[in-house]
Amino acid sequence: MRVKTEPESVHIGSSLQKRILKVLSGFESNSANLIPTLQALQYTIGYLPKEAIVAAAEKLGVPVSHAYGVATFYHQFRLKPAGRHQVYLCFGTACHVKGASSVFNAFLKVAGMSEGEATSKDGRFTLNKVRCLGACSMAPIVKIDSNIYGRMNPSDIRKVSSKYR
Ligand code: FES
Repeated sequence: MRVKTEPESVHIGSSLQKRILKVLSGFESNSANLIPTLQALQYTIGYLPKEAIVAAAEKLGVPVSHAYGVATFYHQFRLKPAGRHQVYLCFGTACHVKGASSVFNAFLKVAGMSEGEATSKDGRFTLNKVRCLGACSMAPIVKIDSNIYGRMNPSDIRKVSSKYR
C-alpha cells in the first residue's frame, strides 16, 4: 500500500501552526494580552515568526501593524531564530569603565557581525547587551550560554569564542 506524503514545508507549517494555536488558546481575546502573548509565543517557538505575530494580532483583535510595532520595539522580542549560543556582553557601569566597548567591538569582528545585528550569519551566536551580570569585581564580563568569563580583553575574545561551534 502506498502512503500519501505531504511536502516537508507543509509539515513544518502545520507544526508551527499547532504550536501557535496551542499558545493562543491560553489567552483571552483582549488587546491587553498582547505582550504576554508575544512572550509566550517566543518562549515556545524560540522567536516570533511572522505567522505568530499575525495570529496573535487576529486573536487579540489588534491591528497587525500594532503587534509588529510592539514586537520590534522591545529588545526582548526576536524576529529571527536565535543562534546556537547566547552571548551576553555586560555594559553595566563597572564593565563599561573597564573596557566593555572594546570587548564588544572585538566580538563583533570575531563573529563577523555588524553593530545592531542580533545573530551572526552562520547562526553561531546571538548577541545580547546586558546591564550588570553581578560579577562587577571581575569586569569586564562576558557570559556565553551559562559560562561566565571575567577580566576580558579584546584579545581574549577569539580564544573564548572558538570554544563554541
Ligand atoms: S557591571 Fe558588568 S558585571 Fe556588574
